[in-house]
Amino acid sequence: MSRILEQAKRLSIPTRKEEEKTKEIADFLLEQVTKEASKHTEVVSVELGGSYAKGTWLRNQMDFDIFIKIKNDTAEKNFEEIGKEIGFKSMKKFKPRVRYSEHPYVEAEIKGMKVNVVPCYNVENGQWKSAADRSSFHTKFILETFDDAKKNEVRLLKKFFKGVGIYGAEIAREGFGGYVAEVLVYNYGSFLGVLEATSKFTQGSVIGSPSKKFETALVLIDPIDSNRNLGTAISAQNVAKFILAARAFLKKQNLSFFIGKDKKPNKKNLKNVLIVRFSYKWRSPDIIWGQIKRATTSLAGQLELGGFEVIRKAAVTDEESEAAMLFLLRLPEIEKFMIKNGPDVYREVDSESFILKNSKNIMTWVDENRRVLSMQEREFYDAKKLLEHLLKQKILQSGVPSGIIPDFKRGFTVLHGNQPVSKSIKKALAEVTSTDGLIFSTSK
Ligand code: CTP
Ligand code: MG
Repeated sequence: MSRILEQAKRLSIPTRKEEEKTKEIADFLLEQVTKEASKHTEVVSVELGGSYAKGTWLRNQMDFDIFIKIKNDTAEKNFEEIGKEIGFKSMKKFKPRVRYSEHPYVEAEIKGMKVNVVPCYNVENGQWKSAADRSSFHTKFILETFDDAKKNEVRLLKKFFKGVGIYGAEIAREGFGGYVAEVLVYNYGSFLGVLEATSKFTQGSVIGSPSKKFETALVLIDPIDSNRNLGTAISAQNVAKFILAARAFLKKQNLSFFIGKDKKPNKKNLKNVLIVRFSYKWRSPDIIWGQIKRATTSLAGQLELGGFEVIRKAAVTDEESEAAMLFLLRLPEIEKFMIKNGPDVYREVDSESFILKNSKNIMTWVDENRRVLSMQEREFYDAKKLLEHLLKQKILQSGVPSGIIPDFKRGFTVLHGNQPVSKSIKKALAEVTSTDGLIFSTSK
């Protein structure tokens, strides 16, 4: 194995000491949750799950997933209440918070480690009722098929995803999650095997044997469920980044791929960035991320309709109270006047209606191709003004998700890219204005 991979392994595999500390907390937690769970007859068992149970967690990146298996025939409302109550009571000393995936679950932080207490239904293999039900089957599958060496290959791959900035199945990231890393290693045998395969991905690549046709950029079938495409949660852009990163790494191995590389905003582009910044009423990260991403896409569409060219865009939140949408524009101010192309004069009806429609314009004329043209003043030639108008006067028609409208109504600011901003926005600015030095490394 190369020296780089040796070093990367050292960064990814937990130390003995960390293992011991982790086990202590895991035992304590399991005891607390089991104690609370025993008060509910609907609970069948409590299990440690996720990367801790599978032995694939990353050094210094521990999070615990504890699953409460609840009787299959429990009504959904009851299922959710029981899950929340056990989560809150068992972690009451650690500032528990409810979070939402398909169902609510409870999250807390214990000695710097994130803990999720998640309810799921106690079902037979394949009889899934909620998304979390598959998880304990995943754990079982990995434990049955992976030895320690394979688990460490997974850790390398997870560390690589982190370094490249594409780790995490959450909506915020739309990247490669822990289980995806495991399934990739399952298919290709090792970290390098995964990278080699990835570097040769072709359009419509399918990994595994799906039971139906899927349309995502990468189709990766869950080995325990041929109906489930793990690629659904991964954005096409992140799939493309992975392909480029794999090629770049195979060309020249470098530890930066595992530790990441700081990006700095490119000053040349900053002046062409507009930022819509606002504060929002706290809600679960999965929800706010989904909303700001959709709002960003809608507003970018509106900008394009208004004649602005959106080169790149990003949504960002500190997951506490601040959120922002960033747009890198070709020009934040475009020409005041625009020329509308009309029909040729032989199309009598069309010409007539074009002339009528544009009668108030600055100038209407016919050119040597016998086409009618009209010069018009744009309503908005400054993208900042257009954004303000959209969010103030046209918010209901702007395509912004309705759940986020009250937050905009309380106020927002449109800033230029070179104005001072918070740390999280700065990071997003670097992202949208600069070249990703890792995946576009040009070394031979
Ligand atoms: N899971 C899933 N699909 C997702 C997200 C999660 O099936 N999109 C399941 C997997 O069984 C996974 C478990 O939920 O193992 C826990 O999710 P997560 O904590 O994201 O993954 P881990 O494998 O625990 O990896 P990490 O080390 O990042 O915690
Ligand atoms: Mg986990």
